[in-house]
Amino acid sequence: MNIMVIGGGGREHAIIKKIKENPKADKIYALPGNGGIAADAECVNIGAKDIDAIVEFAKANSIDFAVVAPDDPLVLGAVDALNEIGIKCFGPRKNAAIIEGSKVFSKNLMKKYGIPTAEYEVFTDMEAALKYLDTASIPVVVKADGLALGKGVIIAMTRDEAKDAVKSMMEDKVFGESGSQVVIEEFLTGPEVSVLSFTDGKTLVPMVSSMDHKRAKDNDEGLNTGGMGTIAPNPYYTDEVAAKCMEEIFIPTMNAMNAEGRTFAGCLYFGLMLTPKGPKVIEYNCRFGDPETQVVLPLLDTDLLDIMMSVAEGTLSQIQVRFKDECACCVVMASDGYPQKYDSGFEIKMPSDKNIYVAGAKLSEGKLLTAGGRVLGVTETAPTLKEAIAKSYETVKQVSFDNAYYRNDIGKRALEGIK
Ligand code: AMP
Ligand code: GLY
Repeated sequence: MNIMVIGGGGREHAIIKKIKENPKADKIYALPGNGGIAADAECVNIGAKDIDAIVEFAKANSIDFAVVAPDDPLVLGAVDALNEIGIKCFGPRKNAAIIEGSKVFSKNLMKKYGIPTAEYEVFTDMEAALKYLDTASIPVVVKADGLALGKGVIIAMTRDEAKDAVKSMMEDKVFGESGSQVVIEEFLTGPEVSVLSFTDGKTLVPMVSSMDHKRAKDNDEGLNTGGMGTIAPNPYYTDEVAAKCMEEIFIPTMNAMNAEGRTFAGCLYFGLMLTPKGPKVIEYNCRFGDPETQVVLPLLDTDLLDIMMSVAEGTLSQIQVRFKDECACCVVMASDGYPQKYDSGFEIKMPSDKNIYVAGAKLSEGKLLTAGGRVLGVTETAPTLKEAIAKSYETVKQVSFDNAYYRNDIGKRALEGIK
């Protein structure tokens, strides 16, 4: 089979390494991939948002199956365009990807179908939003409606900060049209859990739970990033919580999307907060999380390509999806300065026999050079979380590039949650 994976980060590298385990995967292309992915797939210089070029490439190269991994092409309708020329895909169609593409849509969906989430109001008028903030409880959370490279959420600790956030989104348009509507919502507290799931719209299978570490610095300080590391499984997500989430959140969401005529097939990601009043949805994503994928897929025991094809064909109920009874930790190594300004172009030295998922790197004259904020993720698995964390940090020591930065406390909060 000729397989095409759209995207070019650590998540895509993890997906490709796993797909490669299936002997049916004769040829794997990554569009655009990156210098590190080039060791596992043929990288093609076509951007993930260039749907016309993706379709042309698929036709010209007899692609049998496509995996659309990032949010942008999904929200833009890459799956619809590929389905139109007869190519089966893993990933939701445009009318279902809206579950991530519009926070107003997802909040209204949860309200309509009684799915637990933070209380909220939607505003299209800036003055009305500012007036609401005069009396809203503080802290309060301000979210841009559309995709904003993961930066469209502001946790405001004061009224002024909340008003500045609204003005920057609605007046200064720092996120472009994504900020023309804003959601202002109740601030929730509790441990966060990411649960990725496979669903074909009829069956939903949750994957092993995980925990992201979004802030740049140790002890959850510093700016929000795309994710500085992950662990799995998440010890706060007990069997009891899992059963409650399945019943009150996961299945109701799948059914709600069907009832809206927006059947979701692909990876549906639940960003949850375990509040004192029970689990609530913080966000939905229409795709695999990054860097959650880098800990979840190494624990997957069932063949990934088989699962993905069954999702695309609507036969997920026929597959037994199993995970190893082990733990995983991924430490992201970034360029110092990320998520703001950083230097790159430094040579990366790393072992070739480890689970290292490359995110921001390019090949130049046979050398792998840093070329992004998050450069790579180092994943190790072990029988216990403590061992997985220790092993990951050991392997981190075998990786080197100038200007490298990583958090030293990935998994610390999770270890505190082990009873
Ligand atoms: P997002 O960019 O949507 O992943 O949100 C970034 C982070 O903001 C989440 O991981 C949470 O830590 C936090 N967050 C979002 N919504 C809320 C909320 N209603 N209450 C508290 N924290 C929140
Ligand atoms: N790690 C969070 C996300 O992929 O959105």
